[in-house]
Amino acid sequence: MPQPIAARLAGKVALVTGAARGIGVAIAERLAAEGAAVAVNYIASEAAAHEVVARIREAGGTAEAIQGDVSKVATAAPLVAETIRRLGRLDILVNNAAISAGIPFDDITEADFDRLVNTNVKSTLFLSQAAAREMPPGSVIINLGSIGTRLANPITLVYVATKAAVEMMTLSMARALGPRGIRVVAVSPGMTDTEMLRSVLSPEVLAEAARRNTLGRMGQVNDIAPVIAFLASADAGWITGETLHVNGGQRG
Ligand SMILES: NC(=O)c1ccc[n+]([C@@H]2O[C@H](COP(=O)([O-])OP(=O)(O)OC[C@H]3O[C@@H](n4cnc5c(N)ncnc54)[C@H](OP(=O)(O)O)[C@@H]3O)[C@@H](O)[C@H]2O)c1
Repeated sequence: MPQPIAARLAGKVALVTGAARGIGVAIAERLAAEGAAVAVNYIASEAAAHEVVARIREAGGTAEAIQGDVSKVATAAPLVAETIRRLGRLDILVNNAAISAGIPFDDITEADFDRLVNTNVKSTLFLSQAAAREMPPGSVIINLGSIGTRLANPITLVYVATKAAVEMMTLSMARALGPRGIRVVAVSPGMTDTEMLRSVLSPEVLAEAARRNTLGRMGQVNDIAPVIAFLASADAGWITGETLHVNGGQRG
């Protein structure tokens, strides 16, 4: 007999990076609602991170806010260690934290490139490496890709290149970690209503994208979080190396 869905992640510990805002909040709250104890990572949004933790605890869940700049390799091992110190173990890593930037081709600088690659790509690799050293067999690493890897957008050129790297690393990391019993998957959201999206695209572009979407609306953070919870669970135990696109049928 299957377990009740509410207990699907009972006994598991998850670390969600960038979980004080946007999609990360929904992921942290959904994993907690399904029974996982959650480390809510943030870099600057301290108050918001503590609000997420308070909401999870009020709902009967377990959560801890943990500060850490994932763009720095030196953060990786201490962030994993602090999660284990406070919550006891680590079974689920969600590499959600990322930055975007809308920069015309001729204006892209080396500093822009380094900032985006460090935050979106380097963090994913080295945090996964540190986590995998501590994770028991049956664990899972979930990376956030993007619909942008299927579309051409000159304004977000570097951002989508970082997300293509993340999706490709997912495939390779799955091969590296499969023998240790660790799955690695990616979820690539379509346009999802968050500060990141609104910072790079105008309200007119967003309204047009929502109108053209196959399901006729803009994606919301709670369209993404349940898919992450599924992939984190044993229900997805035979899925690794895959990138799942979650976008309401976005085609442009
Ligand atoms: N929104 C979309 O349409 C969309 C589409 C495709 C893919 N995605 C992907 O989905 C994920 C979440 O995006 P979002 O829209 O929710 O973004 P968001 O609203 O801008 O939130 C990003 C989060 O990342 C955190 N962060 C940034 N740099 C960090 C660092 N160096 N160390 C630790 N945390 C850091 C931020 O922390 P602070 O709050 O502490 O600053 C923030 O909580 C990203 O991987 C993004 O690429 C989003």
